[in-house]
Amino acid sequence: MRHLIATAALALLATTTTMNAMEKKIIRISTEQTDLVLQVAENGRLYQSYLGEKLLNEADLQELSWDVHAASDGSVTRRGWEVYSGSGNEEYFEPALAVTHNDGNPSTWLYYVSSSSHAVEGGTQTDIVLRDDKYPVEVTLHYVAYPKENVIKTWSDISHQEKKPLVLSTYASTMLYFNRPSYYLTEFSSDWAKEAQMSSQQLQFGKKVIDTKLGSRAAMHTHPFFIVGLNQPAHEQQGEVLMGTLAWTGNFRFIFEVDNVGNLRVIPGINPYASAYKLKRGEVFTTPEFIFTLSTNGTGQGSRNLQAWARNYQLKDGKGSRLTLLNNWENTGFNFNQDILAKLMKEAKDLGVDMFLLDDGWFGNKYPRKDDRAGLGDWEVTHDKLPGGIRALTEAAQEAGVKFGLWIEPEMVNPKSELFEKHPEWVIHYPNRDTYYYRNQLVLDLSNPVVQDYVYGIVDKLLTENPDIAYFKWDCNSPITNIYSPYLKEEQGQLYIDHVRGVYNVLKRVKENYPNVPMMLCSGGGARCDYEALKYFTEFWCSDNTDPVERIYIQWGFSQFFPAKAMCAHVTSWNRAASVKFRTDVASMCKLGFDMGLKDLSADDLLYCQRAVANWKRLQTVILDGTQYRLVSPYESNHMAVSYVSADCSKAVLFAYDIHPRYQEKLQTVRLQGLDPHKRYKVEEINLMPDSKSSLSANGKVFSGDYLMKVGINVFTFHSMQSRVVEFTEVE
Ligand code: GLA
Repeated sequence: MRHLIATAALALLATTTTMNAMEKKIIRISTEQTDLVLQVAENGRLYQSYLGEKLLNEADLQELSWDVHAASDGSVTRRGWEVYSGSGNEEYFEPALAVTHNDGNPSTWLYYVSSSSHAVEGGTQTDIVLRDDKYPVEVTLHYVAYPKENVIKTWSDISHQEKKPLVLSTYASTMLYFNRPSYYLTEFSSDWAKEAQMSSQQLQFGKKVIDTKLGSRAAMHTHPFFIVGLNQPAHEQQGEVLMGTLAWTGNFRFIFEVDNVGNLRVIPGINPYASAYKLKRGEVFTTPEFIFTLSTNGTGQGSRNLQAWARNYQLKDGKGSRLTLLNNWENTGFNFNQDILAKLMKEAKDLGVDMFLLDDGWFGNKYPRKDDRAGLGDWEVTHDKLPGGIRALTEAAQEAGVKFGLWIEPEMVNPKSELFEKHPEWVIHYPNRDTYYYRNQLVLDLSNPVVQDYVYGIVDKLLTENPDIAYFKWDCNSPITNIYSPYLKEEQGQLYIDHVRGVYNVLKRVKENYPNVPMMLCSGGGARCDYEALKYFTEFWCSDNTDPVERIYIQWGFSQFFPAKAMCAHVTSWNRAASVKFRTDVASMCKLGFDMGLKDLSADDLLYCQRAVANWKRLQTVILDGTQYRLVSPYESNHMAVSYVSADCSKAVLFAYDIHPRYQEKLQTVRLQGLDPHKRYKVEEINLMPDSKSSLSANGKVFSGDYLMKVGINVFTFHSMQSRVVEFTEVE
């Protein structure tokens, strides 16, 4: 519905061209690099006739054909790549849509009705209406093409006018087809403290499914994004790759199906598991957005496309700056009081960060939150722990000269809470089975509007009473256990979906009423990391694992789809064998924060951190808004290097890490990318330990961008867990 209203409003403002199937049978959805060409066939249905590198000649589009010559004896079968294939048609493979009509008929054949396009921020939106000729069922396909960033975003609306509700059993966001010699999938598996682990495999005949059934902490075991290497495994700097991600904070499913003639179809969408959705007459079922880029220069370019797109159009405050912070979770856990926090705020100031972030453990009175077994749901300050309330804390922060941020987990409840005692009917759990728990907690039933009001009210009350709260870390530690909604009663098929929509209703209200409060999306680490949630969050917590060695891999993984600006990285005491410098340098390649006790640091380490914070702030616009180049992969070497280049190419920052090099291994020279070959750059190693000098042979010298990109510089060593941060500045 949201999209329909928005579409209608925008259509009034923009030039809209409506055409019917007979006048114009080709619909071209283009970026500067990519063409997606759809074609209405003689049978009146809509087929994909091309998806690939942009075609230079408009006239060539007429040559594209919608049918697939499938038979091995050379005869032509009239099987095509139907753009939104329905169940029960002549198609033998996985459909996008499966509907059971009021009369029990399971088939849906969709025919082209009309299409129109209009300008939207950053690109052009094309809307295509399809309708069944036997049943009043309509699907509108939406595509937004962002030419400059080479990104296409697509989703679908499903509606009908049958008397009784339809049962939707499959409802993909879209379908894409490829005809290439081979396909290689890179997926991102995950677990607590083990997020965004990349692994690849060749796709052969049949289906590969990546899905999740966890409901709220939905991306705990796999993330909602993937890469397909076309014709060769995905490579950083060359080759054709599809990089796609689903904007949905709940159960998702990607199907990759290679058919009998070796064509690949990619079907992204909500996972319909336990979610046969009863769609009422007139109701519009809007699928999540699927966002993809097709790069012909490998994943590096694909990531840069998505990162730029996210900052420009999708991520909350994508163009704004970010707050550096000191968090207390790894330092104090639940054991703190007002004095301890006031001291930490002073430490935050001393360190030079912008904000102090108070984590879990500040709330609950009848059942104080002194560990993770009680208190969730009761969002009143624990009076005997923090007698001055939040007010005293924001005042202490003000006095220390830093902002104040607060952790909340408002979608959850501990059974040991006043909320659960008062409203067990607000909680997702079985009426007739033993309850099982994840982290001793349960999920509030956000399919229920009253519960949505309650959850919004938590944030609203905190901000009304304490307008100085400058930031929230919004956590979600449990998957949905005991999947049964007391509110939905016999309509349990809606729960996984309506719950997520309920979360969005709350987040929308928060954003509308408090547009300037930045928020970190957290889910027991990085189990929520999708582009719908990121419309409401300025950043996300990548992982509770802050061991810098592990973080190198985790941040490498997430960087495939997200800009550094959205990725929170904190310096902690995980892996004390690594120097404070190494830990800080690893966190500095993303949105920098700290979560450690400063009094444990040596004077040198503290001074080092203070200088590193100052450097990071000075270079923030290069790191967070610049163009990212992943130069050396930790998956392919014992090192890692990544750089950021400012938009005008006058400044660059290189982060280089030695992980666990082998004895006398061949050290690679790092060749930079994205510099201006004609400019000259001064090389300067920064983030040095106090009193130490750079041992880089290039330090202090001036080189042309051409030299730095073709010859490169030596930054790696044979030593474990060493790092270098190098600044490149244009000189006259
Ligand atoms: C989750 C988060 C942590 C921390 C704890 C608090 O695990 O990922 O960073 O906030 O919750 O309970």
